[in-house]
Amino acid sequence: MPKYSEAFLKASKEHVIVNQYVSKLKAVLESEDGIRLRQAVATLEADLTDHFNLEERILFPTALLCLPSLEMADRILGLTREHGVFESDVQAILHVVRSPETDRAIPPELKTRVQDFIDRLDAHARIEMDDLFPKMDRDKRSLAVIRDLLTET
Ligand SMILES: [Fe+2]
Ligand SMILES: [Fe+2]
Repeated sequence: MPKYSEAFLKASKEHVIVNQYVSKLKAVLESEDGIRLRQAVATLEADLTDHFNLEERILFPTALLCLPSLEMADRILGLTREHGVFESDVQAILHVVRSPETDRAIPPELKTRVQDFIDRLDAHARIEMDDLFPKMDRDKRSLAVIRDLLTET
């Protein structure tokens, strides 16, 4: 895992949460326990919303302000659009996991859907952790802006 400076501690911690959810959901799928899946997706919903808010309110605007380029604009646009898709995915998955049939077992189509969601979320987090955030971490101005904005939260 890349090393983050002090200003990125919060974002880094947030990504530990995303990584934990990816592992947790994989384990729940293997257990075939529909009730555990329902609980895991319900807690994921709240934590993921907080995580996306932190990125969209603080980290992404800072990247656009301090490291402006069309490439960066495309990257941030892509990541933001993916957040919207993930939020819709979670709502659709919640709708299915809340049905009584899921109490007994996880239907194969739901399993495929959750696995696909996990894979895309993992790939999204890797782009942020391996490329975007280390670039910002090397930029003094980005760190100063993030530090200021984090003190307002
Ligand atoms: Fe993100
Ligand atoms: Fe993220």
